[in-house]
Amino acid sequence: MTQQLDQGQLKKLAAEYAFEHYVKPDMLIGVGTGSTVKYFIEKLAEVKHLIKGTVSSSSASTLLLQQLQIPVFDLNSVDQLDVYIDGADEVTQYLHAIKGGGAALTREKILAANSKKFVCIVDESKLVAKLGKFPLPIEVIPMARSYVAREMVKLGGTPDWRNNVVTDNGNWILDIHNLDIIDPVALERQINSITGVVTNGIFALRPVNELIVASADGKIKVIK
Ligand code: 5RP
Repeated sequence: MTQQLDQGQLKKLAAEYAFEHYVKPDMLIGVGTGSTVKYFIEKLAEVKHLIKGTVSSSSASTLLLQQLQIPVFDLNSVDQLDVYIDGADEVTQYLHAIKGGGAALTREKILAANSKKFVCIVDESKLVAKLGKFPLPIEVIPMARSYVAREMVKLGGTPDWRNNVVTDNGNWILDIHNLDIIDPVALERQINSITGVVTNGIFALRPVNELIVASADGKIKVIK
């Protein structure tokens, strides 16, 4: 009988696959945030002298990178990233994702936008037929929190303020439950047009390029 791996083992497997297949000498690598990416950062330490360096999507990832003496650059001091590696909270076979469970969505979106290739690493529980079961995170300017929440109710959502969380940019997070995300590209654009929204956690306008999914039997599926 094939041994079934747990979620942590699958995250590690996906991260190691990304490390082996997408990291090359002299690359400038965008690094996401979360427990899956943590495994990727640990692997990256093995080649820290061979890569150009990294740009980080959060203070949490920056800390880990620096603890392992992996070079971290400010995005404004470098050109386009060769590759951006990050996890997701939900992702579809159409390469649209929801991110921001770790409140780093804005910087993650900036790095994804500024990279040649966006590689998403997940365990199979994150692969869904339709986005929206995971509450959609929205980063908001603090004074706009109630206004944005009311606008999201008009769109059919149920907002929940992620109390006690302040993003790396000094803003707040609203988690929106019960959204019917039929057209991720249109909804991403629509929510971003609400005044006071910094960005929302739908990654569809700039989708994932390659999705690495680790399944419980230890196999890796790559969706492009
Ligand atoms: C952080 C994110 C993460 O990629 C997402 O929450 C997945 O995290 P994990 O790898 O811990 O499951 O978007 O803002």
